[in-house]
Amino acid sequence: MLSKDFTQSVFILILSTVIVASFSLLVWVVPNVFMASDLKKISLAKPLTAIELAGRDIYISEGCHVCHTQMVRPLEAEILRNGRANKEADDIYEFPNLWGSKRTGPDLTNMGRKYSDQWHVIHLMDPRNVVPTSIMPSYPWLFEQTLDGEAISDKMRALRTLGVPYTDADIDGARLQVIGKTQGEALIRYLQSLGVDTMQDQGE
Ligand code: HEC
Repeated sequence: MLSKDFTQSVFILILSTVIVASFSLLVWVVPNVFMASDLKKISLAKPLTAIELAGRDIYISEGCHVCHTQMVRPLEAEILRNGRANKEADDIYEFPNLWGSKRTGPDLTNMGRKYSDQWHVIHLMDPRNVVPTSIMPSYPWLFEQTLDGEAISDKMRALRTLGVPYTDADIDGARLQVIGKTQGEALIRYLQSLGVDTMQDQGE
């Protein structure tokens, strides 16, 4: 069996796949398990507030991440265009991360405070209002429906089990922060938070 090369023997193919995959696991995953607490110490990332978290869920449910990345690679052209490059420690509270893989629209990693809230309202209602050639869809319904905040405390509790340091007070006050706000308002709070916590760290 071993006299055949791996294109002919299923056994050798499976064996070599397992060896290569185990090596990747060893190099990429195992060190991170031990580095997690160090990353927490050096990270400037702040957990999202209740309303920002509600906005993040809308970002996911509307599929914004399908057209927008949140991952600036450490390449000069990309930094000039999108701002500070991502660091490993930036995403310790992101579950799941929203790095994305396709850039139909611009990267949004450092979107926070780039535009006013009002600009975002006008843009989300119909992107053609501000960028006549935009191919981004309109999202007018986001400003019609309000949130009831039902599940937000449970979501924060779940995130706490994954290591996001929400206090009991954060969780108890979460629903009040969210209830009655429109989906669009929550989404804009999320967009305005992007990159703000890590902004002061401009080092390589
Ligand atoms: C079909 C792809 C597509 C989807 C889906 C999409 N966008 Fe966009 N987005 C774009 C394109 C293209 C642009 C650039 C033109 C413009 O500004 O409208 C853009 C621009 C933006 C900008 C301005 C970026 C800048 O630096 O000027 C923001 C903010 C934004 N989108 C947020 C969102 C949000 C939030 C959602 C989900 C509700 C979303 N987008 C969904 C394609 C998309």
